[in-house]
Amino acid sequence: MAEEAKRLAACAAVDKHVQNNQVLGIGSGSTIVHAVHRLAERVRQENLTIVCIPTSFQARQLILQNGLTLSDLDRHPELDVAIDGADEVDSDLNLIKGGGGCLTQEKIVAGYAKCFIVIADYRKKSESLGEQWKKGIPIEVIPMAYVPVTRALTKNFGGAAELRMAVSKAGPVVTDNGNFILDWKFDKVHEWSEVNTAIKMIPGVVETGLFIDMAEVVYFGMEDGSVSVREKRPR
Ligand code: A5P
Repeated sequence: MAEEAKRLAACAAVDKHVQNNQVLGIGSGSTIVHAVHRLAERVRQENLTIVCIPTSFQARQLILQNGLTLSDLDRHPELDVAIDGADEVDSDLNLIKGGGGCLTQEKIVAGYAKCFIVIADYRKKSESLGEQWKKGIPIEVIPMAYVPVTRALTKNFGGAAELRMAVSKAGPVVTDNGNFILDWKFDKVHEWSEVNTAIKMIPGVVETGLFIDMAEVVYFGMEDGSVSVREKRPR
């Protein structure tokens, strides 16, 4: 059921936001797979010219395997649209991302897109961060700094931070950028914009999985087969 919900959200977003001659950011994770399949179908059927910028090794492989045009930020420093999944979305469209460890490149690509669209299944829909996603906020760190960053995180903001360990490999997860991931399990709801900025200032932190005020629209595939759309509130 969750897989079908991911597909519904992905197809709704691709059908609504993808147009001919766009530069498109391709996110990472399991939901984006459905978006790339739909994108490849539309490119074939409608003969679209689309250039794709990946957010990870996985996204790069997906683009190539689906016969899409691969590019990079050197050649295309400004994107029309970026589409990506999320681990959780609150009612203000703040996101937790990085469950798959790709948060840094995901934030870069989303940050240089004119429009950032999120696709997710119903399990990611929250009112406030932490309601659904219990694994904490991923934080990418330079390996030599993971111990002092862990201490600074818990001292300044409470909760607990754990080094993410690999499965099928001894030792920690190593990101596409050669760094480590800390999963910070916060113990209360924070002012996320302030906390995000403060965490980024800790020496050794590369990026946080808090995506604040970045998403324009979120498409949630629901259990009943519908798609629920959450849009940024006008300021
Ligand atoms: C990758 O690091 C993440 O940010 C993913 O985009 C996020 O975890 C969503 O993944 P799923 O689509 O697999 O839920």
